[in-house]
Amino acid sequence: MKLAHRLLLQSLAIVAVMVISVVLIIDNQLHNNITERTTHDLAGEARLLALQWKPGVNADSLADNAGAATGHRITLIDGAGHVVGDSDFDGAALLRLENHSSRPEVASALASGMGSSKRMSPSTGEEQLYVAIKSSQGVVRLSVTTKAIARVFAGARQGVIVAGVMSFLLATILAALFARAVSKPITDLRDIARSIAAGGPATQSVSSAPGEIRELADAINWLARELQAKLNALEAEQTRLKRLENVRRDFVANVSHELRTPLTVVSGFAETLKDPDIPTERRTEFAQTILSNAQRMQRIVDELLDLTRIESGNWQPRQQPVDVGEVAREVFARASSAAQAKRVCLTTRIAQGATIVWADRTALEQILFNLVENAIRHTTDGSVSVEASDGDGATTLKVVDAGGGIAEEHLPRIFERFYRVEPGRSRDTGGTGLGLSIVKHLAEAHGGTVCATSVVGQGTSIIVRLPNKGPAQPVTTSLQRE
Ligand SMILES: Nc1ncnc2c1ncn2[C@@H]1O[C@H](COP(=O)(O)OP(=O)(O)OP(=O)(O)O)[C@@H](O)[C@H]1O
Ligand SMILES: [Mg+2]
Repeated sequence: MKLAHRLLLQSLAIVAVMVISVVLIIDNQLHNNITERTTHDLAGEARLLALQWKPGVNADSLADNAGAATGHRITLIDGAGHVVGDSDFDGAALLRLENHSSRPEVASALASGMGSSKRMSPSTGEEQLYVAIKSSQGVVRLSVTTKAIARVFAGARQGVIVAGVMSFLLATILAALFARAVSKPITDLRDIARSIAAGGPATQSVSSAPGEIRELADAINWLARELQAKLNALEAEQTRLKRLENVRRDFVANVSHELRTPLTVVSGFAETLKDPDIPTERRTEFAQTILSNAQRMQRIVDELLDLTRIESGNWQPRQQPVDVGEVAREVFARASSAAQAKRVCLTTRIAQGATIVWADRTALEQILFNLVENAIRHTTDGSVSVEASDGDGATTLKVVDAGGGIAEEHLPRIFERFYRVEPGRSRDTGGTGLGLSIVKHLAEAHGGTVCATSVVGQGTSIIVRLPNKGPAQPVTTSLQRE
């Protein structure tokens, strides 16, 4: 059954019980009041009559006249209990009436001045209300049938019942309005909950809900928003996990791909070397090829291990003041033969405030070496310079070359692992595609950043920004390979 209907029925049941109780109470009181009122009126009339019943007055004709005037039965009884006048009995009938002194109302009137009683009249055979008043001549008694009282009572009761029915109807209308007002916000809430369960919006408002229902609605809305937020977070987490899984898969594919070529070369040439008829000079050449491919694999594995160590947080930079110029000179010394081979001139441009950088020395050397090596690799007959400047709480290191540059669409990706603009050419020149990725991770481990600008045909600048003085980091392991 609908909530509104249940509320309406329950309210109506309460109202009905109340209306019936009120009607019963009023009915009872009305009955008592009417009896009391009649008794009082009869007593008043009896007193008036008592004043008229003087010595020498014919009691029976007084009773007849007063009875005709008031419409009540009037009985005049002398002090000894004999009926001396009665509006309903005359002559012989009057004389036959028995002594009334034992009648309860007469007895109490004689004793205390007034008495009343309700009983069957032996004279008329109907139930009567008797009221008796003591007078100087005896007792004046008036009576009326209870049927007459019942008629008055029935008239009054009708009014009470009409009022009861009217108030019940009015209460029904009010209860219907009340049931609607209470059930509407609750059905609204139910609709909201259903909408949420169906994945719909939770922001639907509850129509003019009062007090606790408003609070309940707010609580449900809050719950729904929380749920939505949690779902969103879960979805984001799932997306992140999927991305991670893709990264992992790509990584495994990339590593296998990178190792496959040198492995094939190594096993191929080793196979060939098994042939005893190969001339010595060819033998040396093959051995050299095997060695260089093994070294290439060694380099890939070493660089991957470096990356993993930095990424996992196992390695932390041992930050200290480092002379940039000195590190640049050492890097140039390591790269000098390659630079000479390509007729590349190596220079430094270090601003006065930037001679010292707050960095891990080994890491800084690796950063600069990777960048200078790349720059030389992509430059012929030009210059490569290491520049350092200071500002905004950081030292900016730039490796600028006058090489072929990098097309715009590749720029955002060159820091990814194994990403190469020209994979074949890079591999031929010994590149693994991990250098810039290592640079990026090292810079970030220092709390720094790295970015690249390039113009095709003019050259490239790789810019590393390291904060001037990072927080002292606990040293765990060194990046230097054993
Ligand atoms: N100075 C530069 N000028 C032009 N292209 C560059 C320069 N530096 C890097 N690149 C491009 O970015 C790619 C990624 O560089 P990265 O240093 O990561 O790899 P790599 O040089 O190929 O190999 P590795 O440095 O690991 O031996 C290079 O393959 C190259 O195509
Ligand atoms: Mg490189």
